[in-house]
Amino acid sequence: MREHLKLAVIIGSTRHGRFGPTVAGWFADRARKHGDLDVDLIDLAETGLPETLPDHDETAPDPVLALGIRLAAADAYAVVTPEYNHGYPAPLKTAIDWYYDEWKAKPVALVSYGRESGGRHAAAQLREVFGELHAVVVRDGIALDCYWEEFAADGSWPRATAACNTAVKTTLDQLSWWALALREARNTTPYTT
Ligand SMILES: Cc1cc2nc3c(=O)[nH]c(=O)nc-3n(C[C@H](O)[C@H](O)[C@H](O)COP(=O)(O)O)c2cc1C
Repeated sequence: MREHLKLAVIIGSTRHGRFGPTVAGWFADRARKHGDLDVDLIDLAETGLPETLPDHDETAPDPVLALGIRLAAADAYAVVTPEYNHGYPAPLKTAIDWYYDEWKAKPVALVSYGRESGGRHAAAQLREVFGELHAVVVRDGIALDCYWEEFAADGSWPRATAACNTAVKTTLDQLSWWALALREARNTTPYTT
């Protein structure tokens, strides 16, 4: 049987009182049920990454090395991001910038949330950033407009009728396809450009 694909789901918000873990937990749960993905849920609020990047000749601090192992093990990423002033959070950018080879030739799904824009400005910026890092952002991400309107009566999120429950399958299908294709390609022909 084929080895499961490894998916790292990254919680991009570190804000006090954040909603990010709820979105990421929902996405991770759906990914686990997809059938071919093993999920590693990465919370940037817990990784202890330094805010300041080093010079080229400096050794990476332990938290950077520890997260690097988890990112390197992944065949695919899902980045869960809120939108702050039409951008994505600064700690998420710092986390992305700590690494380079880890992102290469791997697919990324963008799961964004916010007010009416559903985090689309943040997602558009991340698409550009991951292009620079030789990663492949899948076409159909998830954008959650005014997510607070999708609570169920019992307080759970999202309610069963929320559109994201349908959209998530398309995103996971695309992410799995690319993850498998690129894993096979990397194994056959190491990506060295
Ligand atoms: C500093 C700040 C700026 C925000 N700017 C935007 C924005 O430009 N567009 C938007 O749709 N929502 C905006 N919001 C609303 C956030 O998307 C919303 O509060 C979301 O819950 C933030 O994610 P978090 O709770 O995981 O940190 C902003 C929120 C904050 C705190």
